[in-house]
Amino acid sequence: MIKRIKEILQEAPGGEVLVKGWVRTKRGNKNVAFIALNDGSTINNLQVVCDPTAFDEELLKKVTTGACLSVTGKLVESVGSGQAVEVQARTIEVLGTADPEIYPLQKKGHSMEFLREIAHLRPRTNTFGAVLRIRHAMAFAIHKYFNDRGFFYLHTPLITASDCEGAGEMFQVTTLDPENPPRGEDGKIDYSQDFFGRHTSLTVSGQLEGELGATALGNIYTFGPTFRAENSNTPRHLAEFWMVEPEMAFYDVNDLMDLEEDFIKYLVRYALENCADDLAFLNKMIDPELIDRLKSVIDTEFVRLTYTEGIDILLKSGQKFEFPVSWGVDLQSEHERYLVEKHFKKPVILTDYPKDIKAFYMKQNDDGKTVRGTDVLFPKIGEIIGGSERESSLEKLTRRIDELKMDTTNLWWYIDTRRFGTCPHSGFGLGFERLLLFVTGMANIRDVIPFPRTPKTAEF
Ligand code: 4AD
Ligand code: MG
Repeated sequence: MIKRIKEILQEAPGGEVLVKGWVRTKRGNKNVAFIALNDGSTINNLQVVCDPTAFDEELLKKVTTGACLSVTGKLVESVGSGQAVEVQARTIEVLGTADPEIYPLQKKGHSMEFLREIAHLRPRTNTFGAVLRIRHAMAFAIHKYFNDRGFFYLHTPLITASDCEGAGEMFQVTTLDPENPPRGEDGKIDYSQDFFGRHTSLTVSGQLEGELGATALGNIYTFGPTFRAENSNTPRHLAEFWMVEPEMAFYDVNDLMDLEEDFIKYLVRYALENCADDLAFLNKMIDPELIDRLKSVIDTEFVRLTYTEGIDILLKSGQKFEFPVSWGVDLQSEHERYLVEKHFKKPVILTDYPKDIKAFYMKQNDDGKTVRGTDVLFPKIGEIIGGSERESSLEKLTRRIDELKMDTTNLWWYIDTRRFGTCPHSGFGLGFERLLLFVTGMANIRDVIPFPRTPKTAEF
């Protein structure tokens, strides 16, 4: 098997190595050339040293930034490269050239906006390499966290006939001819003739099916892509994003908040322990407070307070907000960030939101006005988790569904869980890219997913 640079950099000098990767830089003079090679396994490059007189001049001309090389040579102790070892090249083969006249990743310090236009190449930059490795590590840590605690990974469908959040922000899935769809006698499109025999869309959340799993297997989680056709052009919204959604039987809202806090702290600690090189790079190049902020989160207890208490703090703050505050309004990012960054200076879990701004499935409080929803609010991000204890009473759930005039024909199976062996249960959804914004210090959610989907963009 081919050794990766990450492994080679750990080896003792003396051996022969074969290494393949892409040229980051080449410098030197007529006596010696230094090629920095990167194969994506680590942020660190392997320095290849070669004596230009021992190689064909035409070959060396092809060794330019972005070219792909296969190199053999001796691993020797390095004096100046910043690494313990470097390779003394014996053979160099150019597997793929990258014409310096047109290869777009020449100089350092391209803007994030420009890099989004070349999303097919940006994984080759140091920043995106670091972000993508951290993204992998966090996905792995999520599976590890739940597996170690006896949660089962439940695969929930991506194509669905129900709107979990009830916000109507769904992408339709159809094979009907948009120019000429079949119509019923009332003139409306006849979806019984569509592929699934009904109107279907891409899911906004795996929660409803997750609840079916939890009420059979106990503790489950689903982790997959979710889709929202909300026209929000913000640094925190994607039209296609990944969500982690655990759902737990017999958890009340306090058990839920304990899990939310423990889960995030575990992931942040995992990043600090397993992604040190990439975090050090991002701390240096992107956000000088990153590592301190990550450490502070694992060391502090999150504040827990009710929505009503939160509104009081905002009203008394004397702060002028773009969106005015009053009991009943949905909190905007500016309000959430005021609480987290200015008032408490630590993560906050808000609970007991007005029922009118939350989804139908949340457990209703006795006051008749609020529900047992929890949002976890984070510095720089705002809402990172949305969750709740679920309404387990058949009567209360169906009354709420009626109040909201929801169409129950596609929800009969969900309502059945409250009819047969209903149980208290809770769950939450963590936006994977919001977590990554926090862990990487990147400013825009488009830059923590390899190929972002946002309004008017789906190129790569
Ligand atoms: O608060 P939300 O809408 O909650 C749900 O979907 C629940 N069904 C989850 C559950 O209880 N199982 O979304 C959950 C999280 C948000 O807190 C946010 O982190 C993220 O998903 N999120 C988005 N991330 C990126 N782009 C978007 N457009 C997002 N919308 C929500
Ligand atoms: Mg939410």
